[in-house]
Amino acid sequence: MKIAVLPGDGIGTEIVAQAVKVLEALRSDGLKIELEYAHIGGAGYDAAGDPFPAATEKLVLASDAALLGAVGGYQYDTLPRELRPEKGLLRIRKTLNAFANLRPAMVYPELVNASSLKPELVSGLDIMILRELTGDIYFGQPRGIRTLENGERQGFDTMHYSESEIRRVAHVGFQIAMKRNKKMCSVDKANVLDTSMFWREIVTDVAKEYPLVELSHMYVDNAAMQLVRAPKQFDVILTGNIFGDILSDEASMLTGSIGMLPSASLDANNKGLYEPCHGSAPDIAGKDIANPLATILSVAMMMRYTFAREDIAQRIEAAVRKVLQQGLRTGDIYEPGMQKIGTIAMGDAVVAAL
Ligand code: IPM
Ligand code: MG
Repeated sequence: MKIAVLPGDGIGTEIVAQAVKVLEALRSDGLKIELEYAHIGGAGYDAAGDPFPAATEKLVLASDAALLGAVGGYQYDTLPRELRPEKGLLRIRKTLNAFANLRPAMVYPELVNASSLKPELVSGLDIMILRELTGDIYFGQPRGIRTLENGERQGFDTMHYSESEIRRVAHVGFQIAMKRNKKMCSVDKANVLDTSMFWREIVTDVAKEYPLVELSHMYVDNAAMQLVRAPKQFDVILTGNIFGDILSDEASMLTGSIGMLPSASLDANNKGLYEPCHGSAPDIAGKDIANPLATILSVAMMMRYTFAREDIAQRIEAAVRKVLQQGLRTGDIYEPGMQKIGTIAMGDAVVAAL
């Protein structure tokens, strides 16, 4: 298992260090794990003047999987867009062709009170958001800021989806749904956007190959509302890049904390990029208070999807469960009566439970 480790910026280095402890524990159990580090985001800019340095690109292309912490920091906010940390993230996703972004929103029974919703609305919640990750308005050309004939300035971006982009992610969605409760809700804005009308047409066509999956369609504004009104109606949510970005942040709060949400971004061969859904949180970086569980759970997803080791994935997930059962909590999921611990102690506790 050749894994590229890309800690990135902010809390990225702290949380990735905890996930690496888990990988090292698995290695001492006999798994053949090879880790190699590289820079990305602001760290890439600092080291090589590029948020996705050539050395990092070379490493990730030669690896089976990449584990990424987070990118971004205040000191990079004034750089031109091409040099911003976020650009490094978009480029690595594109380079790896990691078009299928799986963001599971699961409520652990131990954290049911940490959710911003009433316990009865979220208890037992288990949603898989499948976000298309390499297309849409994130990558569409042309884009920019221009001056119109009347002298007024205008910002513009382009939203588009090609048929093959929709088909391949729809297939992934239906295949995931087949392994779950066989329900998929495709989210779009087909009442306004032509891109979405086309999305709906293609998803409906792909559905013919999966007669056992119950497909529904929902407009994104309604989906945003339904997620906080009755989230348990969803099984798999399939959506495009920008809607998935927004809905996955929303769904994370149902689970108690965005610090609990892992992700996998897969190419057509299940090679992938694994990262927590949260950002680099520069305001809490270096304080040993960030929650490393989303990153550790991303390692579980890596074992499941890239390495087809469901047994190890479940072992990591069980270790996280055990730590929560022990009452150990980082600040973001803390509630009175529990024991508040830091990032490093949380990593150690998971390794011990493993
Ligand atoms: C995410 C993040 C990124 C995105 C940003 C940091 C570019 O919000 O992974 O959800 O918009 O995809
Ligand atoms: Mg986001």
